Amino acid sequence: MTNQGADQQGPTESRIFAPPAAFVEKAAVSGMAAYQALCDEAERDYEGFWARLAREHVEWQTPFTRTLNEDNAPFYKWFEDGKLNVSYNCLDRNIKNGLGDKTAIIFEADDGEVTRVSYQQLHDKVCKIANGLKARGIKKGDRVVIYMSMSVEGVAAMQACARIGATHSVVFGGFSAKSLQERIIDAGAVAVLTCDEQLRGGKQLPLKVIVDEALAMGGCDTIKNVVVYKRTGGNIAWTEGRDIWLHDLVEGQATTCEPEWVEAEHPLFILYTSGSTGTPKGVQHSTGGYLLWAALTMKWSFDLKPEDTYWCTADIGWVTGHTYIAYGPTAVGATQVVFEGIPTFPHAGRFWETIAKHKVNIFYTAPTAIRSLIKASDVDPKVHPKNFDISSLRLLGTVGEPINPEAWMWYYKNVGGEKCPIVDTFWQTETGGHMITPLPGATPMVPGSCTLPLPGIMAAIVDEAGHDVPNGSGGILVVKRPWPSMIRTIWGNPDRFKAGYFPEELGGKYYLAGDGAIRNAETGYFTITGRIDDVLNVSGHRMGTMEIESALVANPLVAEAAVVGKPDETTGESICAFVVLKRARPTGDEAKQIAAELRNWVGKEIGPIAKPKEIRFGDNLPKTRSGKIMRRLLRVLAKGETITQDVSTLENPAILEQLKETS
Ligand code: WTA
Repeated sequence: MTNQGADQQGPTESRIFAPPAAFVEKAAVSGMAAYQALCDEAERDYEGFWARLAREHVEWQTPFTRTLNEDNAPFYKWFEDGKLNVSYNCLDRNIKNGLGDKTAIIFEADDGEVTRVSYQQLHDKVCKIANGLKARGIKKGDRVVIYMSMSVEGVAAMQACARIGATHSVVFGGFSAKSLQERIIDAGAVAVLTCDEQLRGGKQLPLKVIVDEALAMGGCDTIKNVVVYKRTGGNIAWTEGRDIWLHDLVEGQATTCEPEWVEAEHPLFILYTSGSTGTPKGVQHSTGGYLLWAALTMKWSFDLKPEDTYWCTADIGWVTGHTYIAYGPTAVGATQVVFEGIPTFPHAGRFWETIAKHKVNIFYTAPTAIRSLIKASDVDPKVHPKNFDISSLRLLGTVGEPINPEAWMWYYKNVGGEKCPIVDTFWQTETGGHMITPLPGATPMVPGSCTLPLPGIMAAIVDEAGHDVPNGSGGILVVKRPWPSMIRTIWGNPDRFKAGYFPEELGGKYYLAGDGAIRNAETGYFTITGRIDDVLNVSGHRMGTMEIESALVANPLVAEAAVVGKPDETTGESICAFVVLKRARPTGDEAKQIAAELRNWVGKEIGPIAKPKEIRFGDNLPKTRSGKIMRRLLRVLAKGETITQDVSTLENPAILEQLKETS
């Protein structure tokens, strides 16, 4: 394993910001003593702690009697004899508590048009879709792929699956037909829910066409239904018998639907994510433990109050859009903004304008977005947040990648007006929800540090043999005890789950996050230093270097390829590919043209987010005498730095000179 490190987030940052007194006073977890009391409770009686919270935050149709089953570790089971339904908890329970008329979703369309949906209306929509799916024979345990844009219908589709016990797998709308096909096959899905086209930044982007293409690639015989939400009315092809409009599916369906009461461990969803090797893995999440986490962290990390308007800018295609759009906010009866568009359309002040328009109180976004909006407001002062009335904000959050202290400070001053705590939430697709984050009414904040684990999360830093390292020394981030919302397995591949996340080298009992981290010697605060495997994080999107390499070598021109991450001011990391062609090494215009061709190729194979920013051509790649590609050296070359490491084990040291050049 190698630790790529992070540039500026070292544990040497000394600025510290106490949460504002006015915030602390009203916070759900108020002050460090309250935080510590929760930690102590978890230490004293781990199972009792989670059982108490699971009873308080989730409504069970059949109460559980067994909290944690570790018999078949690491295949942990939580609340296993309890039964519940997520959609019931998110909708009916709120309506029962008098929130039927409360706005659940303020939908802000790409063009600025606003649609408000109450809890009762969302309930009715979900039930109609659920009934429609049932009428097409879709039932508990079936897998349903959702390939939709940001919409009320997208959220409702997820909730409808949950209502009937079908396991959904949302695929981000930016993935290619091939990526979609692979996920459909791996999940063995029976239906795809999509829309005709999505609207982003004033452009109409096809989705149904991509579904058609994916299904035409073969191997998707399990798919019997393609349900299409009409978003733009654009021209699409139609396969009779298989395709059905969403409005026809729900036509005449009842607005009530008895929830399917499922076991706590029933898979609510599968979400594909990248690992360091192999194809993307289907991270399988549970129902009970996951819902507990979604609800609990809305209160703990976001301090959500009934009167808040909350906005998470993620897409439902990523885990953040699952836990902090589709499930968390609805589970706690919040009013949230669901945004269809992009931060730079019609101008780069769109986020601030939208916060002002809907009087958003809690705002959750990615460091990449912040960094790109800083740049944009440097170029065009009109889009600077100071030009918008964003005084409604009381809490800010970030997710998905490390935030550099400079961006943190800008966010704190210019967006939060130095009165909003920032929660820098560290977590992963696999963890289901927040793991290490400040509690906004308790934890003093340090720019660039995700601070301390949530109560009950036994996060630690160990060396390669699994031994604790002292604070101040970096190491491998692990979680020592199972927690309710953790990944349950990799869909269809339990061995990969066990070997990848609970490696024998660390004793087989610790959850391996895949990130490096360091704790501050005095405060014990965690700072994430970056992935320790071959996973890249570009704009907060996770990608495996191997996936991109496989895509490149699938091109008939390419003999060999190696992909590394390169630090990038805006996107955190960018993709740099070193490529050997089957023909002579191209130079000049030809190199540029082939590089462009390969970029598009990767876009088609995986999706536009995986396109390498830079491609360099060589006659060969730096290899050891045993033929292993020296990625370590490629990372140095990508950064444009001089190689100081020992290269005596290289088979072909001369190649390094050639690969210095950008084509
Ligand atoms: C990174 C996104 C630093 C980390 C929720 C992790 C972070 C990967 C942070 C998971 C943060 C996420 N600070 N790094 N606050 N949040 N990461 O699965 O490398 O898309 O392993 O989940 O993002 O990405 P994923």
